[in-house]
Amino acid sequence: MSRLAPKGARISVLYPAEEIAGRVRALAADIVRAIGPEPLVVPILKGSFIFAADLLRALHEAGAEPDMDFITLSSYGKGTRSLGEVTIVRDTEAAIAGRDVLIVDDILESGRTLAFAKDLMAARGAQRVMTCVLLDKPGKLAVDAKADFVGFECPDRFVVGYGMDVAHAYRQLPFVGYIER
Ligand code: IMP
Ligand code: MG
Repeated sequence: MSRLAPKGARISVLYPAEEIAGRVRALAADIVRAIGPEPLVVPILKGSFIFAADLLRALHEAGAEPDMDFITLSSYGKGTRSLGEVTIVRDTEAAIAGRDVLIVDDILESGRTLAFAKDLMAARGAQRVMTCVLLDKPGKLAVDAKADFVGFECPDRFVVGYGMDVAHAYRQLPFVGYIER
């Protein structure tokens, strides 16, 4: 399926909204079983914000009472190539020590972003740190950063939509897709 997106680009749909919603519900049930009912959910902004919002509501449906705080990390400039170095753009505010932390990100690619966030939460004394990503691009890991929970294994394309962008465009699309060349 292909849709005309804003700015005239054609976007091939990889994961439609309904399929994502079903997967998010299943993930939430798995997460509650593994981490317990009171995790501190820490989405990595900006790309994961829609996924995290849906996941938080699904965690509620699954019986959890999560807290949420946010961290903004940057590893990309304006382009589509990772710069390799992860920096904190905006830090969390919540106390991390002793918490069961669930880090949420949109995509696992080199793993540098997730590894950085995981190390940071561990260094701040989290009791446990688990990780959840909507998409995993297999075979791209440059560091040891396997996610505990994965929505979908994703083809090696630059994807947009459902919060994910290219140069800040296309976050608003309700599905995940890639731009047709
Ligand atoms: P990593 O640090 O190389 O694992 O990169 C992960 C980060 O890069 C994620 O937080 C995403 O925001 C971003 N990213 C990686 N691949 C894509 C993509 O295909 N589309 C949009 N963002 C991506
Ligand atoms: Mg990101």
